Amino acid sequence: MNLVLNTLGASIDKETIIALLPDKEVEIIDTADMNIAHCMGCNQCWLKTPGICAIKDDYENILKKLVKADNLWLVSDTRFGFLDYKGKRMMDRIMPMLNMTIGFRDGWMRHELRYHALNIGLLYKGAADQALLEDWCKRTAANIGGHSLGAIPLDATSSMVQNSKHSTLNSKPTHIVIINGSPRVQKYSNTDKIIHTFAKGLEEAGITWELHNLSSRKEWDAAQEAFINNERTIIAFPLYVECVPGLMLEFLETLPKERKQPAEISFMLHGGMDEGNEFRLCERFLQGLPEQLGCSYGGTLIHGGSFRIRTAPADQVEKMVTPYVQMGRLFAQKGNFFSPEAAKFTGMEQYPWLVRKMVSLLFLKKVNGEFEQFAKDWGCTRPLGDKPYSE
Ligand SMILES: Cc1cc2nc3c(=O)[nH]c(=O)nc-3n(C[C@H](O)[C@H](O)[C@H](O)COP(=O)(O)O)c2cc1C
Repeated sequence: MNLVLNTLGASIDKETIIALLPDKEVEIIDTADMNIAHCMGCNQCWLKTPGICAIKDDYENILKKLVKADNLWLVSDTRFGFLDYKGKRMMDRIMPMLNMTIGFRDGWMRHELRYHALNIGLLYKGAADQALLEDWCKRTAANIGGHSLGAIPLDATSSMVQNSKHSTLNSKPTHIVIINGSPRVQKYSNTDKIIHTFAKGLEEAGITWELHNLSSRKEWDAAQEAFINNERTIIAFPLYVECVPGLMLEFLETLPKERKQPAEISFMLHGGMDEGNEFRLCERFLQGLPEQLGCSYGGTLIHGGSFRIRTAPADQVEKMVTPYVQMGRLFAQKGNFFSPEAAKFTGMEQYPWLVRKMVSLLFLKKVNGEFEQFAKDWGCTRPLGDKPYSE
């Protein structure tokens, strides 16, 4: 079955969509007027009610159709050279199709499939980085065991590839605005723990900082204000379906596109999977982003393996986040993430075969067991791999 999720509404007709698809037997769902929230990263679909999203909105019916589909086509507008937030949030909500437990699939660390494989394609409107969208489709489809159906432009707008100017500020940092781009509430956010540890390194050097959390819409006005009135901003966030969370994309759209005074954005990107390679597509997107907000680029600090911050015992969490203090010290000195030490912080780009085997046998067994235990403590009564909807 071919399922089309059209986030563009009436600005595109059914005939145009069908004409572009190789298989004409499709079900098109127009999502433009539906009530669909952003994934909030609560993890209930993995650890409390396996396969069932905690958000009760119009996405539940979409999910029931998705588990019957072989091919998913997303029809989306673009922003900043990538999907806009309405398109991206459709994909962020796809998480219940996967299972929390992790294994190696085709040489890559991946979540296990809850149902069958799903192929993914994209019809996009407006200027975008075509190669980035193609690669995003490949990676996202591979996460769900499928292959890419391609990224097809709906109009003749030229492909845009943006590269921001690197590190243009001459002054030493004195005050830093830090924005937590995670949709997960601050109390449970792994990014929050990372930020507070990193900031210890800033404080040692006498640098002041302020924090704004995008998970709370009440904080958006203050975050915009701080971004506009300060020279240096760091946006720290978790990788969500191979790129920036939909919620963060929505916030970015509210920011001005130009600046009167020079300003710079640096990023701290982290995510569940361990290997550096997992983050390179998102890093490509981030390299082009500051330019589109009238800023220069201060680099991206990348580190994987963060999903366990939520589920691991406190002493292990401490061990996981402590190295960020040194990164804070480094940022205090340099004002950006372009140093060799920051590059080294990412760790291995891809595990060699032997390491993969060892991680698989020793580490992942332990981690998956930890998830089972965490789920029990949360009152989960079904197996983590349960299939609540019929395929
Ligand atoms: C919807 C969703 C999508 C995710 N996608 C990815 C991904 O593509 N790659 C990855 O390594 N981790 C992914 N993760 C894991 C998060 O990046 C990771 O758990 C992170 O530590 C969460 O940080 P937070 O608690 O501040 O939100 C995803 C998590 C969620 C909820």
